[in-house]
Amino acid sequence: MREEIMAPRSERGLQQEAAIKRLAERFSGQNMTYRITTLGCQMNAHDSEKLAGILSDAGFTEAEREEDADLVLYNTCCVRENAELKVYGRLGYLKGYKRRNPKMRIALCGCMMQEPTVVEKLNKSYPWVDLVFGTHNLYRFAELLEEMYDADRQVIELWDKADRIVEDLPSIRKHTFKASVNIMFGCDNFCTYCIVPYVRGRERSRKPEDILREIRTLADEGVREIELLGQNVNSYGKNLEEPVSFAKLLYEVSKIEGIDRIRFMTSHPKDLSDELIAAMRDCPKVCPHFHLPLQSGSDRILARMNRHYTKAQYLDIVRRLREAVPEIAVTTDIMTGFPGETEEDVEDTLSVIREARFDNAFTFIYSRRVGTPAASYPDQIPEETAKVWFDRIHKTLEDVMNARNTERIGKTLYVRAEEINSHDKSMLTGRSAENLLVHFKGDPSQIGRIIPVEIDEQMTYYLIGHPVGGPCNA
Ligand code: 5AD
Ligand code: SF4
Repeated sequence: MREEIMAPRSERGLQQEAAIKRLAERFSGQNMTYRITTLGCQMNAHDSEKLAGILSDAGFTEAEREEDADLVLYNTCCVRENAELKVYGRLGYLKGYKRRNPKMRIALCGCMMQEPTVVEKLNKSYPWVDLVFGTHNLYRFAELLEEMYDADRQVIELWDKADRIVEDLPSIRKHTFKASVNIMFGCDNFCTYCIVPYVRGRERSRKPEDILREIRTLADEGVREIELLGQNVNSYGKNLEEPVSFAKLLYEVSKIEGIDRIRFMTSHPKDLSDELIAAMRDCPKVCPHFHLPLQSGSDRILARMNRHYTKAQYLDIVRRLREAVPEIAVTTDIMTGFPGETEEDVEDTLSVIREARFDNAFTFIYSRRVGTPAASYPDQIPEETAKVWFDRIHKTLEDVMNARNTERIGKTLYVRAEEINSHDKSMLTGRSAENLLVHFKGDPSQIGRIIPVEIDEQMTYYLIGHPVGGPCNA
């Protein structure tokens, strides 16, 4: 084993390990099951992999349905109100199941738990919830479970401030060939609509050596594709004792043998450096895909959102990315219905969509989040108006995506087969280097491999093609 892999485990990691062992002994022979539901972003999805890893080490197996699980866990999101309403709805539904199965325990964690009003409400009105913990308490999960099983009251553990990053939590991955790796936590940007900085805390970067050690271990386990995760990866490393740039990290990850694709999420346009664009151009393992949240195309709204860039600056970044990496796919996040937005502002957003020619986008209607500056702006937009604008944005996006995808017909994309197609078992579904969703004929033995696929058809949100001869793993 390499020396780095043998690095001493943190004290916290050891405490968690001991708690996992005690849980495994306590429930030995009881066939305990769990079901985790994850809402929100990739960070949450990755946190859930860690929670599942801890439960699996404690001897729990995954249940098919949460109604049958002994431990129901919700990893929540609070970025938009809808996700919160869904959790309350499910809790009401599960109350009846819990009455019938006294062994059932319900636990809630994630961003929503960092909101004081939510915890108050859970404590007062949802006493059948057994455990509540926040985004900074994940590494205490096994110990908290023990406390929950010992107590006959609701266990709540929340820290409003994260002072450490705990390394070496076990995790269960959905795919054997790809994995996500956190490179930083928190966000310091304070966009005026966003609750993330309040619930995820200040920006903290992991040390490059810890990240590289984790990726080497993953590569040894057979992982080929890595996604580096952070709320704002472009500012990675700035506040480390020995500062390092995100671009430098990409060069280092590129050197790791066995890894053939490197992706990352998310970038903030204001911090995008020429050094990063050069790294994208010069590192063949770094995939030609850039997720660059736009939010709005109007300078006036961008200023009110505290985004620190203009429409012209955003378009210039896209131009420079395309110049450096011609095949690059650019995707984005767009929001409409922000306080004070007008028809004219929406037109600006539509014009950026047409000029930037996005390959895909997540679109959102602004959701008022208590505690953020924009929540108290007087000029809130009626839901019906925001919906009309949302539909226009969607229609323009689809036109652009259709045009972009049509240009790909007849071209060969290198697609990593990820799974059997859910509708047609003779097809595989995968992601091209550009992160485009591609379906093609294939068999399960190809899953995990990179296959050259010639594109025959485009369907706005995905492509259909057929495998062609030629170099694999290109
Ligand atoms: N309302 C709607 N969308 C939001 N987002 C963040 N906060 C809000 C909010 N209050 C969107 C942004 C961000 C994405 C992850 O979620 O577009 O980029
Ligand atoms: Fe929220 Fe802005 Fe930070 Fe993204 S950059 S997490 S939108 S505050």
